[in-house]
Amino acid sequence: MRIIPYGRQCVDASDIREVIKVLKSDWLTQGPKVKEFESELCQYTGSKYAVSVSSGTAALHMSCLAAGIKPGDEVITSPMTFVASANCILYCGGKPIFADIQKDTVNIDPEEIKKKINPNTKALIPVHFAGHPCDLEEIKGIAEKHNLLVIEDASHALGAEYKNLKIGSCKYSDMTVFSFHPVKSITTGEGGAVLTNREDLYEKLLLFRNHGITKDKKNMDHYEGPWYYEMQELGFNYRMTDFQCALGISQLKKLEKFLNRRREIVNIYNKKLAEIDKIILPVEKPYVKSSWHIYYIRLKDSRRRKIIFVKLRKNNVGVQVHYIPIHLQPYYKKNFGYKVGDYPKAEEYYKSTITLPLFPKMIDSEIRCVVNIIKKVGLEHSTSEDVYGY
Ligand SMILES: Cc1ncc(COP(=O)(O)O)c(C=O)c1O
Repeated sequence: MRIIPYGRQCVDASDIREVIKVLKSDWLTQGPKVKEFESELCQYTGSKYAVSVSSGTAALHMSCLAAGIKPGDEVITSPMTFVASANCILYCGGKPIFADIQKDTVNIDPEEIKKKINPNTKALIPVHFAGHPCDLEEIKGIAEKHNLLVIEDASHALGAEYKNLKIGSCKYSDMTVFSFHPVKSITTGEGGAVLTNREDLYEKLLLFRNHGITKDKKNMDHYEGPWYYEMQELGFNYRMTDFQCALGISQLKKLEKFLNRRREIVNIYNKKLAEIDKIILPVEKPYVKSSWHIYYIRLKDSRRRKIIFVKLRKNNVGVQVHYIPIHLQPYYKKNFGYKVGDYPKAEEYYKSTITLPLFPKMIDSEIRCVVNIIKKVGLEHSTSEDVYGY
């Protein structure tokens, strides 16, 4: 039996046709598809500006640069996320400060954010964990009170909604970051984007994406002729290609279909797994619509996580763990002195969690198979060997 992965892309013949069209055209990069993809992203989310880039990580880095993060600045994010959410602060010389999570949503806890703010704090990076939006209204309130920027890490959350607005509308933030890695809501292979409603940030993002170079006369120190360009910032080559943007445009057309199928699978999991009293299922608050990037279960007895994880993998269920708390990564422990016990809720979540397969192309028999194997590998009846065997 082939392994059922925890996530995978859904690329069909129409996507491939669109990519091939661009490959046969004059523009492989810096052509018309880039702007088209960006305006589609704006239309979908309701934001004013979008800047497509080569990855979600690049999008986070550029957002921190545009936010003006520099050595000595502190930025608060969640310990329960992929390392990129915090590394982007380090790239700018800033210091990542973590605020512990809410037990139910696994998102950063606004009350914990308040405890970490000091005069060096410059920005907040809330992460919409698993596609479930953070409490943005509360976070924006805190940011306004302390004059902080908000950068939403919405790598998991394209298509999610908060209080009837699409994530990416930037109503409650200065910038929103998406990732288009293959396991995300839509894919461009590698890719990402930053969305904003602020023209000043948009202009900066365009600079940082392209080596800090401007060709726009109105922004130049002086102008020498039609060949002239100026490098005004230390930027990067974070551009996305036209064929990736063509894939993105084509994928966006199918986003609602993908989201609906994810939700259908989640409903089946919720119904079937509710019968097992040894696990806790993920929540969805009434004021959000999750994009269901991942479906995680929590074991009430976390001592059994390892044996159950190994058994699931042996049975070809491609389970994962999202994530190892960032503050427990050796780099963060070594350089910032973080240690076990610093963020107890994130650590407790980490110990008990398993991510199950969830992707739009998952067929009903695969869902049934995952549920049956979970029951078979011992979630219903624990033995002392299960608990202590490892
Ligand atoms: C929460 C989060 N932020 C940022 C990233 C980085 O995105 P990318 O892989 O597109 O660089 C990821 C990737 O998995 C992520 O999960």
